[in-house]
Amino acid sequence: MSDLKNILINKKKNCKTIWFMRQAGRHLPEFRKIRSKNKNFIKLCLNSKLSSEITLQPIKRYNLDSAIIFSDILMVPFALGQNVNFIKNKGPVLSKFDIKKFSKVKEKEFTQKLRPIYKAIKITRKKLNKKKSLISFVGSPWTLLVYMLSLKNKKGKINIKLLNIKNNQIKKIMDNLNKFLCIHIKNQFNAGADVVQIFDSWAGKLPNNKLKQFCFKPNKRIVDFCKKHKFPTICFPKGINKNYLNFNNYVKPNCLNLDYDLNPTWAKKNLKNVVLQGGMNPKTLLKSDKFIFREAKKYLDVFENVPYIFNLGHGVIPETSPKKIEKLIKFVRNY
Ligand code: CP3
Repeated sequence: MSDLKNILINKKKNCKTIWFMRQAGRHLPEFRKIRSKNKNFIKLCLNSKLSSEITLQPIKRYNLDSAIIFSDILMVPFALGQNVNFIKNKGPVLSKFDIKKFSKVKEKEFTQKLRPIYKAIKITRKKLNKKKSLISFVGSPWTLLVYMLSLKNKKGKINIKLLNIKNNQIKKIMDNLNKFLCIHIKNQFNAGADVVQIFDSWAGKLPNNKLKQFCFKPNKRIVDFCKKHKFPTICFPKGINKNYLNFNNYVKPNCLNLDYDLNPTWAKKNLKNVVLQGGMNPKTLLKSDKFIFREAKKYLDVFENVPYIFNLGHGVIPETSPKKIEKLIKFVRNY
């Protein structure tokens, strides 16, 4: 935990460290300008110069304490042979999963395909003030599986039966994913990243009796790998509610990102030996200043005496006005 404190916690002042998930993205006019000229999202993520520029956009605009590399969790399935398309108002669509193709990919080919991301990290690290941290990320095996096997139907429901029917094959896929996620993390650290955030965005879709197998164990494997290499970790098992307690005791990451459904007072009381991050509902930023400040105050008061990184309970919503973010940052820094 001390590693992470040195990197992410602002010790000098009494103010809390602050950054936002999806800080580099569609809510920024300067991002939309680049995006409108780059219709292919995957290609944009593989353009080192532009991806570094996008990473630095929110730092320039808001002077946040951390940058998160502009990329996507679906770059890993892409590098493992699946076509990934981002369709407007529909989200990502992946080509049919082909286990033979997937099992054949070698480390060298994988790293080669994602090299522009590592180059973007290198460029960004050089341009970034030394006091600011650079966050890298991966999707968790479970969350990636949801996309790779199209496990979610149109209503957002997961086909859990399929997990039982294809149990053996799924185990093999998750093992292979774990291997490549660790490679991707190692490559990102070698390029200059300071921290890795592991997004398990669909953890909350798992029934309780599947949580250990599909969420806790795969996250722990990655965190254990990171510990061995002294890479600080932030886990985000979104939507698992009070199972955050079991998750923390089992996985033991350096930091836990809270989601907006989690009661902050409960979190402070129950989540020990871990730095806490985030929590505020991103929809708050669509409301009045008064409401925003009241919500922010709630989190700042609860976490006053513990290491806490100010962030949200999920990513910034595209409709968010940059002015609201500016005001929120000022409020947090002056609190
Ligand atoms: O946080 C950042 O600023 C860094 C960049 C980042 C992106 N995606 C860029 C992006 C990060 C950390 C992600 C993670 C990601 N991607 C997650 C985990 C976090 C979460 O939101 O739960 C997931 C599930 C994805 C998959 C994904 N990528 C989806 C579902 C979509 C489409 C809808 C959406 O939420 O935007 C994307 C596209 C995407 N990734 C965009 C950006 C800026 C929007 C691209 C565009 O249409 O312009």
